[in-house]
Amino acid sequence: MSTLEAAFCRSTPWGLLARRLVLWATQGAPLAGGVLEVGAGSGAMAEAILAACPRLRLTMTDIDPAMVRAGQRRLARLPVEVGQADATALPFAEESFDMVLSFLMLHHVVHWEQAVVEAARVLRPGGVFVGYDLVASRTTAWLHVADRSAHRFIEPAAFEPVLHHAGLDPIRLQVSFGGRVLRFIAHKPDTVQTDPGSDKGEH
Ligand SMILES: C[S@@+](CC[C@H](N)C(=O)[O-])C[C@H]1O[C@@H](n2cnc3c(N)ncnc32)[C@H](O)[C@@H]1O
Repeated sequence: MSTLEAAFCRSTPWGLLARRLVLWATQGAPLAGGVLEVGAGSGAMAEAILAACPRLRLTMTDIDPAMVRAGQRRLARLPVEVGQADATALPFAEESFDMVLSFLMLHHVVHWEQAVVEAARVLRPGGVFVGYDLVASRTTAWLHVADRSAHRFIEPAAFEPVLHHAGLDPIRLQVSFGGRVLRFIAHKPDTVQTDPGSDKGEH
């Protein structure tokens, strides 16, 4: 991310905007149980989520140590774990969380497919992957002219197959803001219980 964008993500105006964004971004998905936010920046969305659901077991991670420190300061008095983690190689065991959140992060990850695979891996069966991100468009490209760090916008048509490949079922994929933003909810199916004796005698 550019220094400017990183500073904006840590700013008071973004914190205030996050409070208004959070319902739109979570799209009515039930916030409950153990929740992981990846690429959480300075914790603006995490703070807004905890204000709405104080009992949540929230873990907030980001790859950038400066963001992690900003998150630790912002969330110091709140019951949240804050740590450094690359969304493409999460330091959590399989099936650790009921929900994984990703807000405006995937386009900063050149191999964002791997971040989707990791989100799916750490989700429990029945869990959901929820978030929003920027779609490839002239506006989003223009917005990132100043951003010399690597980024790769999402092509909405490419997102659904990536979810399936990761073992997630898309529940809602919604493009808004004139085709510039993609919101998503995807579900990790419950493990299929097979009866070991069910095929006995079948031909
Ligand atoms: C535009 S900011 C969004 C921050 C936060 N989600 C929010 O909505 O306020 C993108 C964040 O993604 C983080 N990021 C970029 N690549 C990442 C990766 N591979 N793993 C985890 N975080 C990453 C950046 O450090 C930055 O904090």
